[in-house]
Amino acid sequence: MRKVGIIGLGSYIPEKVVTNTDLEKFLDTSDEWIRTRTGIVERRYAKESEATSDLATIAAKRAIEDAKISPEDIDLIIVGTNSPDMLYPATACLVQEKLNLSKKCAAFDLQAGCPGWIYTTVVGSQFIQSGAYKNVLVIGAEAITRMMDPTDRSTYVLFGDGAGAVVLSEVEEGGFLGFELFADGSLSQYLTLPAGGSRKPFSEQVLKERSYFTQMNGSEVFKFSVREISRISSVLLEKTNTKIEDVDWFIPHQANLRIIQAGAEKLGIPTEKVVVTIDKFGNSSAASIPVSLDFLRKQDKLKKGDLVLMVSFGAGMTSGAILMRW
Ligand code: ACO
Repeated sequence: MRKVGIIGLGSYIPEKVVTNTDLEKFLDTSDEWIRTRTGIVERRYAKESEATSDLATIAAKRAIEDAKISPEDIDLIIVGTNSPDMLYPATACLVQEKLNLSKKCAAFDLQAGCPGWIYTTVVGSQFIQSGAYKNVLVIGAEAITRMMDPTDRSTYVLFGDGAGAVVLSEVEEGGFLGFELFADGSLSQYLTLPAGGSRKPFSEQVLKERSYFTQMNGSEVFKFSVREISRISSVLLEKTNTKIEDVDWFIPHQANLRIIQAGAEKLGIPTEKVVVTIDKFGNSSAASIPVSLDFLRKQDKLKKGDLVLMVSFGAGMTSGAILMRW
């Protein structure tokens, strides 16, 4: 079996900072409520002219540069997103064109809720493991704030935009040690964007009921997330014969600081090993883990040989975890 790992990493967080105080101006909310219930202090919004493919392309260019390969060496682009530029074509095809790679590689999107980047990374690595492809560009990217109702305080305050990308390839040492993916479609009603698909195409009714925005049952999502973050991590640790004490960095999906803390506590991971970016970037959905990984590296904390456990949960409901040696 070929060993697969990350040979290049890059991220892009839009410049526009939106603080809790900014949201207080048009929502019945407060900085105090948002901080204490979610851990979010500020988040970033994409420019009006930017869509998900624009954020994804910047992160992708950075990852390719970091990998020290030519863009032409990319065999496949997969974008994990819940806020594609359009229902179709795939955002991955738009990124391909922006990277001047049209006709030069395969490209598709993968939709798996917030674990979108975990799922895409697992899928992408299979092509390398099988020998089908050499270099796969995997991106988690979101202009997800566009999918949130600015009149709904229970969802609007939570999210931010961003993108993270990695180049996957065969590696001599380190790389992915194992993964675990999970989905429970019986819980799908708890986090949905109901309109705009084939079930509920756009109509006056859709506009009236605002069902073109995300709808969430926060407490059910909360319960699922707290349960899954520790359950799926434990399954993966057992599967890979890994002791929790040996994990150097725990990178959970950045949805809510209380979910992160509850998960870390249940797993027995000390605070100093838990990567937290939600205070600065909010929940950037499928982008949150690669963005946090790059954030950790930029702080010079991520060292060669470090054991990294990444875990995510979200709409579907889905969850996924990857264990890797950096
Ligand atoms: N500001 C002020 N008050 C608010 C706000 C807000 N932004 N949002 C909700 N409230 C109010 C509610 O209306 C409610 O008021 P009521 O008691 O008068 O009805 C009160 O605060 C308490 O609401 P709860 O929903 O019980 O608050 P809770 O402590 O559960 O926090 C939250 C809500 C933050 C949404 C939490 O449930 C949560 O984080 N859930 C998970 C959400 C999540 O992770 N989503 C994404 C995961 S998957 C993905 O990333 C796509």
